[in-house]
Amino acid sequence: MQVKGTLYLPGDKSISHRAIMLSSIADGKSTIRNLNDGADLQSTINALKACGAKIDSRNQTITIEGVELTNPNEKLDCGNSGTTTRLISGLLSSQKLDFTLVGDSSLSSRPMKRIITPLQKMGCDISSNDNLLPLTINAKEGIRSIDYKIPVASAQVKSCILLAALGGDSPSTVHENILTRNHTEVMLKNMGATISFIDKSINIYPLKNKLNPINITIPSDPSSAAFFAAIAVINDNSELTLNNVLLNKTRIGFIDVLKKMNCNLAVGNKQLNNGEKTGDITFSTSDLTSVEVESEIIPSIIDEIPILSVVAAYSNGITIFRNIEELKYKECDRLHAIIHNLNAFGINAYEKDNSLFVEGGKPDKLAEITTFHDHRIAMAFTILSLTSFGKYHLDNKDCIDISLPNFFNLIKRVAE
Ligand code: S3P
Repeated sequence: MQVKGTLYLPGDKSISHRAIMLSSIADGKSTIRNLNDGADLQSTINALKACGAKIDSRNQTITIEGVELTNPNEKLDCGNSGTTTRLISGLLSSQKLDFTLVGDSSLSSRPMKRIITPLQKMGCDISSNDNLLPLTINAKEGIRSIDYKIPVASAQVKSCILLAALGGDSPSTVHENILTRNHTEVMLKNMGATISFIDKSINIYPLKNKLNPINITIPSDPSSAAFFAAIAVINDNSELTLNNVLLNKTRIGFIDVLKKMNCNLAVGNKQLNNGEKTGDITFSTSDLTSVEVESEIIPSIIDEIPILSVVAAYSNGITIFRNIEELKYKECDRLHAIIHNLNAFGINAYEKDNSLFVEGGKPDKLAEITTFHDHRIAMAFTILSLTSFGKYHLDNKDCIDISLPNFFNLIKRVAE
């Protein structure tokens, strides 16, 4: 395969969720363009609508009229989306609501204790299926402030607490061990919340007044960009430019990793949009070397490890990703899924001491891709299969709709 051209990818999934949620409780009308078009966003939109949110998503430009959210009459179906589940738990708690969250079989096996513990400390009455979904949260007694050290590196947990704290009785503080994506903080500040940062601690005040509405064009999703970056760097005679990509430091660890792997890339047209950095990035065919990725970097590449493992498969030497425990709790056990698929395509990959090892070489066995119904596993290994064999067999194509429904069309647009 050879790729050439320029792409403008759909909006960042994390920022899209936050824009919809915070606009729903803002004071007036928000306008959102380039929203992520994946199924996860639909879960957030539907759940909020069931709580009375006024979201008009019929056109390309979404408009949201902020309202007082109300108790839903139905269970809120979060589908496959961990971000919907964990963030909406905090948001609806701040509004002192009583609600039940359900999800598909993947989401129903993902850990929720990480949000149950802090929300209970904040005064929510919670019942769950042994710390899994369904989760019923009753916040009608009001929210107490919290001073909380987050035990896992998770932006979803951090955001859940920050959002709940908006309805608190006094200021709250959360402390992170390793910095995770900070879009909730950036957007809250931008919409007028009182929030401050000292090192890895965040201090947030309850809302005295409603948030200001926003007018935002969501930057392109770097997690989607990583797939196209990979196609360009591992294929011969290729060059691809990705426009208006989110360049938030907490999200672009994959660019730093690719640079260390000797990747050819250039960033230009840097801008600031609603507190978030963006830019155009050009990736081209590279002679790649292996790299050792340390634990501190992991949160900033957490969603990109499947595709970086594929890039590692085309590099010289053994690439190591340290401390990848959290990979086990994603849409599937991604550690197992990555190793299974790399091995199936003839690449030696294994786990040792909580680290992932990928031995570079050339995939030499055509295999069916076992997606484990996970969008990022499906896309990462489609790219490997197309690169080495010019064709692919997926056991589930539909799961790609979770974050990038247009994946195959975008590839067709740039591939020769
Ligand atoms: C997300 C945070 C990350 C990431 C997920 C999106 C977010 O999850 O994997 O795709 O939008 O806050 P964790 O917080 O569980 O690491």
